[in-house]
Amino acid sequence: MSFDLVFFGGTGDLTWRKLMPALFQAWRHGKLPAGGRILAVARDQRDDASYRDWLKDRLQAADTAKRPTDEEFEQFSQLVHYRPMDLSKPDDYQRLKRWLDERNADTAVIYLATSPHLFPVICTQLGAAGLNHDRVRVVLEKPLGHDLASAQEINRVVRSVFSERQAFRIDHYLGKPSVQNLMALRFGNVLFEPLWRRESIANIQITLAESLGVGTRGDFYDRTGALRDMIQNHALQLLTMVAMEPPSSADADAIRDEKLKVLRSLKPFDAVSVARDVVRGQYRAGTVEGQPVKGYLEEDKVPAGSATETFVALRCEVQNWRWAGVPFYLRTGKRLASRHAEIVVNFRPTPHSIFPGAARPNKLVIKLQPEDGLELHLLAAKGSVGSTDASGAEKLSPVSLDLDFDKAFPTDRVGAYERMLLDALAGRLNLFVRSDEQEQAWRWVEPILEAWQQDPHGVRTYTAGTWGPPAASALVARDGFTWPEEA
Ligand code: BG6
Repeated sequence: MSFDLVFFGGTGDLTWRKLMPALFQAWRHGKLPAGGRILAVARDQRDDASYRDWLKDRLQAADTAKRPTDEEFEQFSQLVHYRPMDLSKPDDYQRLKRWLDERNADTAVIYLATSPHLFPVICTQLGAAGLNHDRVRVVLEKPLGHDLASAQEINRVVRSVFSERQAFRIDHYLGKPSVQNLMALRFGNVLFEPLWRRESIANIQITLAESLGVGTRGDFYDRTGALRDMIQNHALQLLTMVAMEPPSSADADAIRDEKLKVLRSLKPFDAVSVARDVVRGQYRAGTVEGQPVKGYLEEDKVPAGSATETFVALRCEVQNWRWAGVPFYLRTGKRLASRHAEIVVNFRPTPHSIFPGAARPNKLVIKLQPEDGLELHLLAAKGSVGSTDASGAEKLSPVSLDLDFDKAFPTDRVGAYERMLLDALAGRLNLFVRSDEQEQAWRWVEPILEAWQQDPHGVRTYTAGTWGPPAASALVARDGFTWPEEA
């Protein structure tokens, strides 16, 4: 299959930090279909050679194992081209069309790695230049809009130019191998699905914790905040994968229909429930992983006195027969104690215990990062002298069954962006978000944004290197639960 892959925003942060390294890995793993060309476009005046030099410097900044050797870069970079482009000029799109027409590849994937406010103008111009024929796909990077109205406007323009099957809305969390394994665990095995419901599950906790701060993205982040940056998309997408009903097939729309139903079943927020069930925080100077770090307000490009949240914890409910009454807790933050993403399914205690000591309910942990694995926490009898009480009843000990996917599948595993790029090239939509899902997610978070607007000073503080404001612990403690690190 021949392909052309075009990156708008070709000199941007995302392109060099995530997309080009992912493509390089795909090429290194022999997964990139032969006969492809990669074109970066941006405003800067450069040619292929100077772009390749620039890119080489950036790829060299990767971890040692991911860094290309000179010889590898030499070969890979032959696929990479650069053209300057003014996004508002129709002639520049005609030039792009001529470049694509030279080869008339089987597929042209156009990746919009720019700020989302440019998506409408780019899509309109692509359409006007005839770059929306059925061999073209467009990949739209998050954040898709700033609120429901802006997301709807972007989707309206995208739909007026491309069909839904040509639009690949990316949420890279769906490309993480553990998320694939969540589907496999639930729908490829018979063990868990009978238990996957309110009768057996006490609560579900989704944590997306980062140890990094906002880095060089202070201006973007300050306009965005953790709710828009992580909850509206990544955390809600994970929630849909955990809570959805079994789809009738692995077809993209069969899966996306089920995810949409979950989003529509989420209990809506109002001002009262926002005040009660949503905690927002902002980090202050502290120590993360042994290093002193500054507070959010001292970060580069963050305006003085900003009230933007860098942490959110919330409690929500999925109102349907399977999940009624089961709290789902979502939590994300920058400058937390460690980089750590996981979904914890806390089961109910046994209805009656014949063993001495406090019952310790089972727990399934789906680990997304830094490791990628599954842990099933059980209770077992040690069978050693002294493991019984005076009456001879066995005292149980916690044990866990651990599955490390990197060890189970040592070869051929791909990272999230690599997977998503390869899927976009192959036209597989399963892991991409449909417009109605995305709009429903905005609809659900909007009352939170509105309530916060009425109360701009309601943001709590937390010390960098901790797990967020104490109110986040109180949120789960109120229901008689704890976060995993507090157990
Ligand atoms: C991005 C957010 O979508 O996800 C970033 O904009 C965040 O703020 C990143 O750092 C986290 O992704 P990952 O894969 O490193 O957990």
